[in-house]
Amino acid sequence: MNSMHKDSIIELKSVTVTYPHHTALEFVSLAVMEKEFVGIAGPNGAGKTTLLCAINGLSHILCGTVRVFGKSLFSNIASIRKDIGYVPQIIACDPRIPLRVREVVSMGRYARINFLKRFSAEDRNIVEDAAEVVGISRLMDRPIGHLSGGEQRKVAIARALTQEPKILLLDEPVSHLDLNAQAAISALIEKVHTEKNLTTIMVSHQLDLLPESCNRLILLKEGKIIFTGATQEGLKEDILSRLYGCPVKIIKNGGGCAIRVGTHF
Ligand SMILES: Nc1ncnc2c1ncn2[C@@H]1O[C@H](COP(=O)(O)OP(=O)(O)OP(=O)(O)O)[C@@H](O)[C@H]1O
Ligand SMILES: [Mg+2]
Repeated sequence: MNSMHKDSIIELKSVTVTYPHHTALEFVSLAVMEKEFVGIAGPNGAGKTTLLCAINGLSHILCGTVRVFGKSLFSNIASIRKDIGYVPQIIACDPRIPLRVREVVSMGRYARINFLKRFSAEDRNIVEDAAEVVGISRLMDRPIGHLSGGEQRKVAIARALTQEPKILLLDEPVSHLDLNAQAAISALIEKVHTEKNLTTIMVSHQLDLLPESCNRLILLKEGKIIFTGATQEGLKEDILSRLYGCPVKIIKNGGGCAIRVGTHF
């Protein structure tokens, strides 16, 4: 029987993930509704990447259950992964990898059409469109390993878009980007979420860069969820000070806010 909450597209129940000598997630339960935009934040080592990997079937889960699209992740991993676009936190390509950017962006498309099929004109258009949207058209013929960290991150976002996923998992998508690119990619993620009705989960250290449509915030500390609720409710000085273990000041500026850390504000 399907016991998932109505409309929830992702459901974790008491998920525990351990690495040798370390418990990265401890009895984490979470339900994400279809089309929701969830932001995840927390200190380094809190378990944010591990949580995304648990949803994507990349974490070794010691106990608990993960259901995606109403199905058990473990028994349906290949079919579920086709519909999950993943932009990993660490993107490091060996400069000797003999792949061009266009081939890397196309990989996302192959996840959807399968490796044995030839690319159609439509598939090629989808690849070029994703490159255009992310702003990497001029890089398409360059070797992937020659790109800067920020450029490689944009390639990873384009690759996830060509997959036309139903769920988008983004692990620090705006880190390593310049100020202009941060704002542009943040706006792009928001646009993709609203136009394509994508369920989106975005890990970000820059809480002030979470797009406006991010309607729920999850705060992780030492492998446990210490807050889940409306983003504005989570962006409070006492909650963030407890999360990071230091004084946090929120400075309102117009519609947005800036977050400062330290004792001298
Ligand atoms: N492969 C691994 N083997 C052993 N320990 C690991 C491994 N991967 C992660 N960990 C540990 O698990 C904890 C959670 O790691 P995780 O990468 O999920 O943190 P994070 O919240 O994403 O941190 P950051 O903000 O630095 O990206 C950390 O203490 C980390 O050292
Ligand atoms: Mg991480």
